[in-house]
Amino acid sequence: MNQAEQSLAAPPAVIVIFGAAGDLTKRKLIPALLNLSSQKLLPSQIAMVGIDRVEMDSETYRQTLSQEISSFVGEGFDQAFWDAHIGKAYYMPGDFRDAECYKRLKKFLLEVDKEQGTPGSYLFYLATPPSFIGVIASELGKVGLAEERDDCWRRIIVEKPFGRDLDSARGLNMTLHQSFDEHQIYRIDHYLGKETVQNIMAYRFGNGTVEPIWNHRYINNVQITVAESLGIGDRASYYEEAGALRDMVVNHLLAVLSVVAMEPPNSFEADAIRDEQIKVLRAIQPFDSERVLSDTVRGQYGKGVSGNGDSVPAYIDEPGIADDSRTETFVALKLMIDSWRWAGVPFFLRTGKRMPGRYSEVVIQYKHAPNMMFRDALDRRKDISPNQLVLRIQPDEGISMEFNAKVPGTAFNVSRVCMDFDYEDYFDESTTASGYETLIYDCLRGDATLFKRADYIEVCWELVQPILDVWKALPPRGFPNYPAYSWGPEEAGKLLTRDGYRWRHTTQ
Ligand code: BG6
Repeated sequence: MNQAEQSLAAPPAVIVIFGAAGDLTKRKLIPALLNLSSQKLLPSQIAMVGIDRVEMDSETYRQTLSQEISSFVGEGFDQAFWDAHIGKAYYMPGDFRDAECYKRLKKFLLEVDKEQGTPGSYLFYLATPPSFIGVIASELGKVGLAEERDDCWRRIIVEKPFGRDLDSARGLNMTLHQSFDEHQIYRIDHYLGKETVQNIMAYRFGNGTVEPIWNHRYINNVQITVAESLGIGDRASYYEEAGALRDMVVNHLLAVLSVVAMEPPNSFEADAIRDEQIKVLRAIQPFDSERVLSDTVRGQYGKGVSGNGDSVPAYIDEPGIADDSRTETFVALKLMIDSWRWAGVPFFLRTGKRMPGRYSEVVIQYKHAPNMMFRDALDRRKDISPNQLVLRIQPDEGISMEFNAKVPGTAFNVSRVCMDFDYEDYFDESTTASGYETLIYDCLRGDATLFKRADYIEVCWELVQPILDVWKALPPRGFPNYPAYSWGPEEAGKLLTRDGYRWRHTTQ
């Protein structure tokens, strides 16, 4: 590595992955480490230690990873590069609930440090079911593995879901804080790692023309949609416990909202950005029972047929789901933000499984021009549409602005046209790949900007808790209430039409 490369590379460390035999590790984390390494973003003194219950030694673990890696990396997999680096992967079998496991881990890490020349800085990645987070953090603390010294740091990455309600999230924060200081804790939301979500900040704060009209004077309403065409796959037991509100809204959708609605931070420092995000989340009008009834919609998909003619079963007929399940697979919400910028502007959020496609986007619907001077010259059958800005998070990552233009000809007709920016026209597509490279790299460098602080997590749960309470007290009637591959229950449309708005349906 030359000097310039060295300055970009993360500092030397050992990455310890709890849940090394799990899906997330194989599919996302190992490929992300490989990508970072091939982009020269990892130093030569780096190692990975996997821990899981399965009994095997490091050599067998390396062989197992080697057998599967090419299918998870796909095109561009470089066998020679992999072979040259696989020696940096180690494995230690262990039971996460057994105190002895952590004593052994401490010794194991000292040996790895000796072999790889790493300085004792450790990143603990908890790729485990949520029930293990508390015990792992406590046990690491007990054996001194959370203690930092001048010459080495210790950090912990915690995956979602972070708790299942406000109380459990607070409890989890308390448990983590018994062993780790807040600056050592990195709570992941992979939506914040997405290039296109980060680009919302670049678009808003890197351009002089955007912010002056990013407020209630010019904006009518904001829509945030995360639609998925997939069902629940093989995650029945997790999803039955979670539902769409816990799985998507309390984390990913509110994360996107915080980026769209935050005030400009004073600097690009992690806390300056996170302070602004938390401030706007705190300004969302809390739900009381009445507003839960009027401003939230839940749904569950029934059977349906895709655009390709594939039939899929109803949620309740999916393997592992009870036939009287009341779990919601769709949520739509109307949120109001009490701030000078957003007074009176509704934010509509929706997410669901088995919708017509996989679309994540933010739609900013602007107000009409104040004086419609073309009114008399218009073809009266066509209403003139207000401007609409679409920030496409995925797929077809990009930004488009819809505006009105004169139709060529002697008559003065106006028609809607679109200015489009596509990522792939400007940038190498690989830069928009997975969020995990960015998140692991940032954590190794101690940059917490894209991770959630304890207060961020809690303010999201505070907002959602009344919805959980009312929904629990009043079980839904009439589930399933939308066919698979539709845009959700009718009520989701009414949530907007009663205010005079309409969802933007990407496929229309
Ligand atoms: C996960 C949810 O956090 O995000 C899944 O648990 C969901 O249910 C997924 O499918 C969506 O992520 P992405 O990046 O595919 O939009």
